Amino acid sequence: MGERVFYVTTPIYYPSDRLHIGHALTTTMADTLARFKRLQGYDVYFLTGSDEHGQKIQRKAQEANLSPQEYVDRIVASFKDLWQRLYISYNDFIRTTEPRHKKVVQYLLQKLYDKGEIYKSQYVGWYCTPCESFFTQRQLREGRCPDCGRPVELVREESYFFRMSKYREALLKYIEEHPDFILPLSRRNEVISFLQGGLEDLCISRTTFDWGIPLPFDPQHVTYVWFDALVNYISALGYGTEDDSLFRKYWPSAVHIVGKDIIRFHAVIWPAILMAAGISLPRQIFGHGWLLVEGSKMSKSKGNVVDPIELIERYGADAIRYFLLREMPYGADGTYSEEALIHRFNTDLANDFGNLLNRTLTMIEKFRGGRLPAPSQYSPQDEELKAKALSLPGEVEEALSRFEFSKALGAIWKVVNRTNKYIEETAPWDLNRKGEKSRLDTVLYNLVEVIRRATILVGPFMPGVPPRVWQQLGLEGLKELHTWESLSSWEILPSGVEIKKGPPLFPRLEEKVEISAEKTSEEGEGVPQVSLEDFLRLRLQVARVVEAERVPNTGKLLKIIVDLGGEERTLVSGIADKYRPEELVGKQVVVIANLKPATIRGIRSEGMLLTAIDGEDITLLVPDRPIKNGSLVR
Ligand code: MSP
Repeated sequence: MGERVFYVTTPIYYPSDRLHIGHALTTTMADTLARFKRLQGYDVYFLTGSDEHGQKIQRKAQEANLSPQEYVDRIVASFKDLWQRLYISYNDFIRTTEPRHKKVVQYLLQKLYDKGEIYKSQYVGWYCTPCESFFTQRQLREGRCPDCGRPVELVREESYFFRMSKYREALLKYIEEHPDFILPLSRRNEVISFLQGGLEDLCISRTTFDWGIPLPFDPQHVTYVWFDALVNYISALGYGTEDDSLFRKYWPSAVHIVGKDIIRFHAVIWPAILMAAGISLPRQIFGHGWLLVEGSKMSKSKGNVVDPIELIERYGADAIRYFLLREMPYGADGTYSEEALIHRFNTDLANDFGNLLNRTLTMIEKFRGGRLPAPSQYSPQDEELKAKALSLPGEVEEALSRFEFSKALGAIWKVVNRTNKYIEETAPWDLNRKGEKSRLDTVLYNLVEVIRRATILVGPFMPGVPPRVWQQLGLEGLKELHTWESLSSWEILPSGVEIKKGPPLFPRLEEKVEISAEKTSEEGEGVPQVSLEDFLRLRLQVARVVEAERVPNTGKLLKIIVDLGGEERTLVSGIADKYRPEELVGKQVVVIANLKPATIRGIRSEGMLLTAIDGEDITLLVPDRPIKNGSLVR
């Protein structure tokens, strides 16, 4: 079983400021992989941490009138708080100011120095402090940092250099021979062309400030912060120390998750250091795109920095994680907006997933007294659903093996939506009315079985979801039904389990519907215009009236039960003076299905019938010819 180990890392973040939603994205990706691999039975080690040295931190601390250590201690506490709220399941949090890290950095520097991989010279060039990066005159863009566009400083100092240039060929060869070493391919190509453009030796020490790790062979110099930082991936495993058992176990199964801005440090500098030290290279480096806000990078000066803690408090960690992983296009930049977040929440989480659970539990309560029935009579429709559900774990695994988070979620949602459609097609309400007992049992069983599978698979993405679903399905004690292995068999749910329907998993959020009241020059009547989008927010559906009765002691009100295509709804409508109840039963009507429920005379009304009104004259809107219940009206 030696193969079944998995080591995943995030970049170690600068504790120069609080973290934002972009940092949360990187860490959520790593956490999802860690959880998925644990689910599959891998022995996982998940590392994150903080990158605490360097000129930038030293300056920030000075501005705050604190010692660098005091300054970083406060911010690191806020990192850990965020990760806890976001369900980040790291095994270790490394801080570069810890003695265990410093020791390994110095050990490695000494080793490289002794091997002649490090030499002393004079550095003359430019330095970008926010990026902690060296640039030559030629690399600058309009005299500024080519990466972030900020001003650079001229540096002229005696420094030590790492003979990085000599690894250019070997790196190119390695990348060529390992097509999956750098993903996505666009990033791999970027690194290849960078290397083809030539590689210089790397300045690895500074003397003009002292917040860093002293070079063991010349303590007047402190280690360049990127050299110091990259080593975290092996210092945390005890490389070069008395106890290097973690290193021997988990290296080189490492997968480094990083943002595209720091791909070069990870795909060029880090492998070159490892080659020079005679250490194997990590297994993979994945460089994701940027999360943009209103099309641009988040920055304090623009005032568009999105605080993940606020969002978690408002929407919950699961929804934030879902949004980040679903919304980021593969390897490219993505966009954050609160409207998009609310929209995803309402459609994918509340409507698709949440409703599937809710409808299923409601039907089991209503038709089977809250106990899970045993399946017996399968139809081709069931077989199709079953086949889709059985192949899903493989699809998710395949997508995640290439870091395609959105695709993996998309595959799960395809099955969720197929299942919602299955409810409409099998119409359990009709089966119940017609007394088709064994068909109804099978359909209800299949629904729970698909929900169970979807729940296991969404767990790594939204760790807060499974415990809540298990409780409602009455499966919380049956741990063997929560496993990866259990996904390969069907019909393993014990019949008779008592369900416990609870509150909705994701209660729908209010979407900001802005109806424009602007008058157009032709109309000018003050009739507010709505966009097509506004209109489409109304869920108008065809439904058949199943039952209708007068609401006692009212003149106009009718209580009407409609079939919305597999789902029954109760409505209260003020048309009793125009229609007798028995006239309505069997008629197809049009209903606003997503109207906020209201309680009228003690009856919960979950929608509204559409009528045409001319003063006292009122008539129901009905379809011109019969159509399937639940059909959308546009
Ligand atoms: N300290 C270095 C990393 C050293 S790793 C050996 C560093 N730190 S950082 O705090 O500035 O940012 C770390 C990472 O955060 C970025 O590489 C990227 O992964 C992530 N992101 C920061 N802003 C981001 C977005 N707006 N969008 C997506 N990811 C972003 O660089």
